[in-house]
Amino acid sequence: MTTRRTAIRAALVQQLQTDRLLGVRQSPLTLTKPVLDYLDCGRASEQGFELLPASAVVSGDGVSVFAAVADGEKGAALSALDEKHVVSCSKCLLCKSRNNTVFGAGNPNARLVFVGEAPGFEEDRKGVPFVGRAGELLTKMIEAMGLTREDVFICNVLKCRPPNNRDPAAEEIAACSPYLLEQLSIIHPEVIVALGSPASRTLLNTSTTIGRLRGRFHDYGPPGTPMAQNPIPLMPTYHPAYLLRSPGEKGKTWSDLKLVMARLGL
Ligand code: URA
Ligand code: SF4
Repeated sequence: MTTRRTAIRAALVQQLQTDRLLGVRQSPLTLTKPVLDYLDCGRASEQGFELLPASAVVSGDGVSVFAAVADGEKGAALSALDEKHVVSCSKCLLCKSRNNTVFGAGNPNARLVFVGEAPGFEEDRKGVPFVGRAGELLTKMIEAMGLTREDVFICNVLKCRPPNNRDPAAEEIAACSPYLLEQLSIIHPEVIVALGSPASRTLLNTSTTIGRLRGRFHDYGPPGTPMAQNPIPLMPTYHPAYLLRSPGEKGKTWSDLKLVMARLGL
């Protein structure tokens, strides 16, 4: 573990020095605080790293080191992000009304990640994603794919519950989605399933409706992350809470999930 961190740090410093020698870089490397924490760069500025707040996205100019998070270290990187940043987060007003933050749960080495909208009543009470009625349906969907909740990783765009489960506000999504970006960068799954409109629109940075987005894979490769070079296939589909209200649409979601299964060779 320590060896790999040291190696990543050394590689970054070398990259920085080479870039400066070649005259292709004036600015410092921009790394997010969770990454710096992970790399244990206590005195980041001395090493030429620029310390950004946890909210910052790894910039286009920055070298992201998430790709270098080895399988055995993903759990620790996720825990650090949760414990050092999300649990105590007050970047939006939802921090005032929440009982618990809901970081996400499952396998840090998951091949498949599900992204929902935001915690509801039960999730806020327990600090665990998808444990209410919609969660029961999601669990059934996962099991129908031949998987368990422990095989996959489940999280949401927002880590705190909006009062009365209202729709997430644009400023809440803007404040919180960098955490999701970091989670996905750390896990680097083979496929992402976006559940419902807010998750699909946020991840794909579009205002197209879920009905038009679903049914085919989209590339998820935000600039400045390792995923930009190697985009992850993302399948938008209906949210299980919507399927509870409109059971007639379940067949469409199942056909979306079958495409995901084929992609994963399940
Ligand atoms: N709906 C969501 O989008 N996420 C949860 O965690 C629970 C319900
Ligand atoms: Fe922070 Fe996200 Fe919770 Fe807002 S919703 S307080 S940004 S963790």
